[in-house]
Amino acid sequence: MTTQQERTLVLVKPDGVRRSLVGEVIARIERKGYVVSSLKMIQPDRATLAQHYAEHEGKPFYEPLLEFMLSGPVVAIIAEGNRVIEGFRKLAGTTDPTTAEPGTIRGDLARDQGTKVVQNIVHGSDSVESANREISIWFPEVAM
Ligand code: RTP
Ligand code: MG
Repeated sequence: MTTQQERTLVLVKPDGVRRSLVGEVIARIERKGYVVSSLKMIQPDRATLAQHYAEHEGKPFYEPLLEFMLSGPVVAIIAEGNRVIEGFRKLAGTTDPTTAEPGTIRGDLARDQGTKVVQNIVHGSDSVESANREISIWFPEVAM
């Protein structure tokens, strides 16, 4: 059997958890054919988020982003499948939920709320390197 299994790190952000969209996000991942291989709800601390969003440190939205991500629990998910990194980014839609395509998680379920940082329900890793890095942050117990 030839497999090109790939893994991505998905977060249901605090807005998605507050709005009871955890099941909706998982259903879309599974209906697309990806496999949820790890799952947990966690109240992240600042250090974890600083690691996760290190690439954005110093940007104008960095502090509001951390405040938002600290505002409630998140659900961390490892999803697996061929080209799942690219595939989940397509399922999620573009960053700005107002203009994200209908049919996507962000396009169907979110809009601009006028908050300091855009609240867009999910995070998905953007490359193999990011996925490996982020999985080790959120799931240190999962072997690479
Ligand atoms: P994510 O990392 O959460 O999957 O989202 P993304 O790749 O689509 O967006 P990214 O550029 O990595 O930004 C991370 C999160 O920061 C917030 N953001 N706000 N100009 C803004 O107000 C702005 N830019 C980014 C969003 O919550 C975005 O998802
Ligand atoms: Mg990103």
